[in-house]
Amino acid sequence: MTQAPAAASELLSRALADARSSRVPRTVPYVPERAFPWGGPGLSPAGTGGAVNLDRGLRLSLAAPHRAGRLRPVASAGALHPVQAHLLVGPGCSLPPGRYAYDPRTHRAHPRGRAPADAPSGAFVILTVTAARTVAHYGHRAWPLLLLDAGHAAAALALAAAPEGVLVCLDADGAGLSAAAGLPRAAERQARWPGVDPELPLVAIWLPSARGSVHPTASLTAWAALPCALTSASRPDTENALPPELAAARQLLANVAAGSDSTWHPAPRPAPVTDETLRRRRSAAPSDLSHPPAPDLVARVLATAEGARPDGPAWAAAVGGDAPGLLTTDGPLASGDARPTLARWAAGQQWIGTAGAVLVAHGCPADAPPALIRSSHLAAGYAAGVAQAHATALGLRSRPIGSWQQADLGAALGDDPGHDWIVHGLALAGTPKPRHQDEPLPAPPPPSGKEERP
Ligand SMILES: Cc1cc2nc3c(=O)[nH]c(=O)nc-3n(C[C@H](O)[C@H](O)[C@H](O)COP(=O)(O)O)c2cc1C
Repeated sequence: MTQAPAAASELLSRALADARSSRVPRTVPYVPERAFPWGGPGLSPAGTGGAVNLDRGLRLSLAAPHRAGRLRPVASAGALHPVQAHLLVGPGCSLPPGRYAYDPRTHRAHPRGRAPADAPSGAFVILTVTAARTVAHYGHRAWPLLLLDAGHAAAALALAAAPEGVLVCLDADGAGLSAAAGLPRAAERQARWPGVDPELPLVAIWLPSARGSVHPTASLTAWAALPCALTSASRPDTENALPPELAAARQLLANVAAGSDSTWHPAPRPAPVTDETLRRRRSAAPSDLSHPPAPDLVARVLATAEGARPDGPAWAAAVGGDAPGLLTTDGPLASGDARPTLARWAAGQQWIGTAGAVLVAHGCPADAPPALIRSSHLAAGYAAGVAQAHATALGLRSRPIGSWQQADLGAALGDDPGHDWIVHGLALAGTPKPRHQDEPLPAPPPPSGKEERP
């Protein structure tokens, strides 16, 4: 249930301060990945073909290549993958018109009802999050990470589908998105689907099959008018035994998603990102992230992060080397090596202190209203997702950084405290040059006398 605006706003400000504090999360028992909650036979998103290729878009973004595997094309905090996708398919797509729930582990779309009679050609993808697993891992720090994760997933899907001219909306009303996706509103959930781990919708993505005059917000409203079809087959969790952190995270995400502007922005692919880049994207191991990247490549990825969304926080790059500093696309913000401070702020992840470069998204003041908290985190995750794809295409190594404690960048730079906080990060590194064939080999170790003869 969402709360009255003033109470919701105050609750969110307090929860944001808590998530950013040094309070260590309480250990909550591990929550295994739940079974896919929607029953019925699934269809291949490849279907019989169509202008909007849902098979390619989903395969390059959300699909788990191995049923039990943790690896997916999209990054996720703790590899917990809390994002689910619902497909609202009109004519001109690779699936027949209708509502579907997407199962990333089987790469199948499960039908959940018909489409509105006047659905325009193209498809919506509604992204939701289920909080239980991320909360079990990160406790009271989980809910901003769930927003960042949803942003990464939006970027992955938008980049995968970009040739079709995708539009992305990060600020649609959560209750409206629930209705469009055929999910019960928070108030009805307990009565209709008691105890089911709720899906909280945060993002809408529009994949048009042809540029037309239809506004996506209007056609989402037509989807929302349809009945909430087919019950979830999910086994109830017992609401009474919910850890308080989980109940709080669900409430906070419902509050943050209430109210709307429904603004839609295009999602171009930065050159030279290709389908193959999206297939290859991985987060490098922290120990492989210390080689300095070429400054011009850092500048290009920084410009991509900065320009990915008009509604996102600002970005800066902390670099070391001969001229250490904090750089922006408009010039230096500060001199000196910020990386050791960033390592301390990022829950003490020491490797960040020597990472090749660290991009940080910053803004979202302590007293930010709910809409700004939502857009700052969703857009920062989105921008980091696009930037990671760009870095991959440029041959750089990278790793998102989502845990930030007491990271008041503005105060550290001499401004009033509380106005300019780090909300997300992306470490970048170059690839050490492979040794050239003509270079002398290192001296062989002295014979030990133990080697077997061939
Ligand atoms: C929102 C978000 C926050 C993350 N935060 C961290 C972090 O603080 N430290 C870290 O080492 N990795 C972090 N990661 C990287 C994940 O651990 C990584 O994406 C996950 O293990 C899956 O691996 P992959 O990116 O190679 O698919 C984060 C990823 C995301 C999307």
